[in-house]
Amino acid sequence: MVLTAVDLTPRIGSEIKVDLDTLLSGAVAGEVRDLLTRRGVLIARDLEMTDDQQRTFIKTLGDLRLGTVKKEGDEGLMKVTFDEKENPEYAKFFFGSLLWHMDGTYEEVPPFATVLRPKVLHTRGGDTEFVNTYAAYNDLPEDEKPWLDTLTVVHTMQAALFPAKPNCSPEEFALWCTYPERSHPLVWRHRSGRKSLALSTSGSHVVGMDPTESHDLLQRLMIHTTQEKYLYRHAWRMNDLLMWDNTGTMHRARPFDTESGRMLARFTLNGEEPITAV
Ligand code: OGA
Ligand code: MN
Repeated sequence: MVLTAVDLTPRIGSEIKVDLDTLLSGAVAGEVRDLLTRRGVLIARDLEMTDDQQRTFIKTLGDLRLGTVKKEGDEGLMKVTFDEKENPEYAKFFFGSLLWHMDGTYEEVPPFATVLRPKVLHTRGGDTEFVNTYAAYNDLPEDEKPWLDTLTVVHTMQAALFPAKPNCSPEEFALWCTYPERSHPLVWRHRSGRKSLALSTSGSHVVGMDPTESHDLLQRLMIHTTQEKYLYRHAWRMNDLLMWDNTGTMHRARPFDTESGRMLARFTLNGEEPITAV
């Protein structure tokens, strides 16, 4: 089976043209996985589907993350929303998703991929942006790569959340500081042999580096990686199905009118390899 795909930008994002039955059957799963890790983001449009079908589809690609099951039949379903009634745990920290991040940097093995599908759309703002961290690494100066390949970054909750909420209370900041931190290599050499930058706003500092130098390096890499040429911006429509390779991209939500009740149905696949140095 050959999947029809159209590139949306040169370096990231493709739209796939496929019908629902083919997606759900798993007949194109291998091709979708391969394309996903090469293009970072894949979109299928005008697919009317249910939460169950969204789950069936993502399970063709890997190992479904279950999390805590809230309601029978909701296995793996996460509602991405600011609405505390719909998903109190998510709503509490969702503001951090407005800054560039990789999901799961506090885990040893960050999730592989995520599939989103709108349930309620915003009326203003609310696009989701993605950048390709393979392409960003690839384009760095060759003489800098061997040094960058040796660095380790500490990821913390307070590094991720404070810039998104600089008017937080001292108690809130203290609470973020109680979450466990996690160190990862800055440059991820994937099992495939390809390399990407394991970058996220959660990156607090580089181990063993002078604090000012570390700050400037992480800022510089963030600016480099989020340039327009590595970016795909998704403007949501109902019946979109969007998936991203969390191991080779960063993403962020653009601000939107929270009273709109914007809500996306999300399923995530467990990671398959830890972030490994070169
Ligand atoms: C996420 C996320 C962005 C958005 O689900 O991990 O960051 O636009 N979502 O909702
Ligand atoms: Mn996210």
